[in-house]
Amino acid sequence: MVHPLSNPLRSVGDRRLPRVPDPCALVVFGVTGDLAKKKLIPAVYDLANRGLLPAGFVLLGFARRDWGDGDFETLARAAAQKGARTEFRESTWSRLAESIKFLPGSFDDDHAFDTLAETLRDLDNTQGTQGNAAFYLSIPPAAFPTVLKQMQRTGMADDRESGGWRRVVVEKPFGHDLPSSKELNDLVDDVFTARDVFRIDHYLGKETVQNLLALRFANTLFEPIWNSHHVDSVQITMAEDVGIGGRAGFYEGTGAARDVLQNHLLQLLALTAMEEPVGFDAESLRTEKRKVLGALKPPRDLAAYAVRGQYDQGWLAGERVKAYRAEEGVSSESRTETYAAVRLEVETRRWAGVPFYLRTGKRLPRRVTEIGVIFHRAPVLPFAKSDTEELGANQLVVRVQPDEGVTLRFGSKVPGTTMEVRDVAMDFQYGEAFTEASPEAYERLLLDVLLGDASLFPRNEEVEESWRVIDPIEHFWAEQNDAGNAPHLYRAGEWGPKAAVDMLARDGRVWRRP
Ligand code: BG6
Repeated sequence: MVHPLSNPLRSVGDRRLPRVPDPCALVVFGVTGDLAKKKLIPAVYDLANRGLLPAGFVLLGFARRDWGDGDFETLARAAAQKGARTEFRESTWSRLAESIKFLPGSFDDDHAFDTLAETLRDLDNTQGTQGNAAFYLSIPPAAFPTVLKQMQRTGMADDRESGGWRRVVVEKPFGHDLPSSKELNDLVDDVFTARDVFRIDHYLGKETVQNLLALRFANTLFEPIWNSHHVDSVQITMAEDVGIGGRAGFYEGTGAARDVLQNHLLQLLALTAMEEPVGFDAESLRTEKRKVLGALKPPRDLAAYAVRGQYDQGWLAGERVKAYRAEEGVSSESRTETYAAVRLEVETRRWAGVPFYLRTGKRLPRRVTEIGVIFHRAPVLPFAKSDTEELGANQLVVRVQPDEGVTLRFGSKVPGTTMEVRDVAMDFQYGEAFTEASPEAYERLLLDVLLGDASLFPRNEEVEESWRVIDPIEHFWAEQNDAGNAPHLYRAGEWGPKAAVDMLARDGRVWRRP
């Protein structure tokens, strides 16, 4: 019998019952931006539609627009209609619309922040928000310090003063290297207590990413083989078919490694490689992830194991697409990488010698994110060589998106009189196994912020450990730039530069074709 205490999925009380947060205000800075329109407002609507917002909820937008509540409501309605996951219902909307407010102001405008602080106090009386507020910084990182200092000056970050809770949500990127992320973390910690800081990495809000924990720690099947004795290598891929869209201002000077590798991919790696947490509370989970990130070693041979690329013009889904350097707002000499592939190692007993290959890129053939665990081949094959020509290594693939599920690849006998063995796939598909549709990542994470559950939010030590791994890679690429070497070009619609293929070939391996 399994002792209940040995199960990290155990819960106190029945967590299947929906949890509804305390009455509160959600203040969104930068509410007219892309993230707010595409993700945050639709997520708020979906939560309202599922009955998961409290009575006494207020959505307060703050941005530099000469707007009133009505204008914001119009924008929010359009955003919800376009981006919500659940059905748009007038009845839900009209209830939510009553709690939508807008405050105009720029981040250096003291008066606007004084008004915001006063508005929050008023809401306690008029809407019963009980002093509770979450502040979402959906703004360019350069504006973080100004906004945080305004919150400190006006006392709105102070839960003792408000009598309720005060939380802050910081969107990535958390800095652009280790020193700047330490500076940002110090500043945030100066204004908010550590437990009230929620750093968003929206990959952790994805159901399939959380399922990795269920797969590993709720089953007995995988744990015995989840180590270097059985695993040959791990490949984590996050591919996108889109280019940079209208985000040149952000992307130039950021690049694929800072945008995706430093956060989403290293978090996926941490969940794949970590030891079993003693519980699923924030402290236990983050402690285990942090240990893995702390044991990560940047590649010793950066020239061989840190490959960067940039998309050139090409064809995607039958359409001709531009080169990165021809995108609006991008310098024609840009050396920003739109593709990054690295080989990392986790220096622990469990993983010694197992390479973790991580890659991400824009304008690749299709949007797909997956974690592929590749097992050693059988040491001896008692078959004729020609019978196993179509047999590859066993693989367990966690399909994060878009075709959510898990695939197990193994060899099977081809029907017939010979003993020919060929790879087959056994698939678990979310869509077929469950009737419930998965919530959007932002829906889950926003709800967790309002509930004060930080399990799915990286702690600042994790962020800093991640920069420790990425910084040497970025320095190496900067030196390459100084020496006149640009990123490798790859044609849009192809799986990245040849150098990334060579990187694996050097180790006698090939990339999985997702
Ligand atoms: C964001 C990156 O964090 O993730 C974007 O800044 C990227 O560049 C996006 O497009 C991808 O998210 P998803 O959920 O669509 O895989």
